[in-house]
Amino acid sequence: MARVVVVYFSSMGHTEAVAESVLRGLRRVDGVEAEAIRVQDIDEAAWSRLDDADAIVFGSPTYMGSVAAEFKAFMDKSGTRWYERAWMDKLAAGFTVGGGLSGDKQSTLIVMQTYASQHGMIWVSMGIGVREPELDRLSSSIGLMCQAGNAPADETPPREDHATAEAFGGRVGAAAVRWLRGSGSDS
Ligand SMILES: Cc1cc2nc3c(=O)[nH]c(=O)nc-3n(C[C@H](O)[C@H](O)[C@H](O)COP(=O)(O)O)c2cc1C
Repeated sequence: MARVVVVYFSSMGHTEAVAESVLRGLRRVDGVEAEAIRVQDIDEAAWSRLDDADAIVFGSPTYMGSVAAEFKAFMDKSGTRWYERAWMDKLAAGFTVGGGLSGDKQSTLIVMQTYASQHGMIWVSMGIGVREPELDRLSSSIGLMCQAGNAPADETPPREDHATAEAFGGRVGAAAVRWLRGSGSDS
């Protein structure tokens, strides 16, 4: 089984709801075992599950054009893993939720992509759109973007964004299965 962990921060629940949609998409893929972990809940056991994962999906709301401070704290705490090259050659992908239509969400995804590259991870892009315009509302290519308006998490982001999140989870899950198979560890 390809193991995928979604690790995220959410303050008001929008990013958490999107993480659940990504997780649904991941779990639809045969051969994928997926779980979500909130950065606030990371203990030694959770760090071990991240170390054992074949793919890690990062999720944070966009705050001030970047990841939230709590997510950045998680990034910095992974410094020992960086030093040990513990996450080298795992797959990585990312998603963010912002209040604005643009809201500088791309900056957040670039931070995540750079972070994954620091760890020597292999970045999985969005790969959705063009032929699926209903899944391309925000036209992102680096990773998944969702837009939450000024409404509670059970109303926003809109359904289309959750559908896009599920499709994105499916893409990352399929990539993780192929990656594991290619490594020979799952044969
Ligand atoms: C301190 C702060 C900074 C924010 N900065 C941005 C921003 O730069 N761009 C944006 O689109 N939304 C911004 N927002 C809105 C949040 O991204 C939005 O409310 C998001 O849904 C919060 O996610 P959560 O419900 O998972 O906590 C900001 C919100 C806060 C509290």
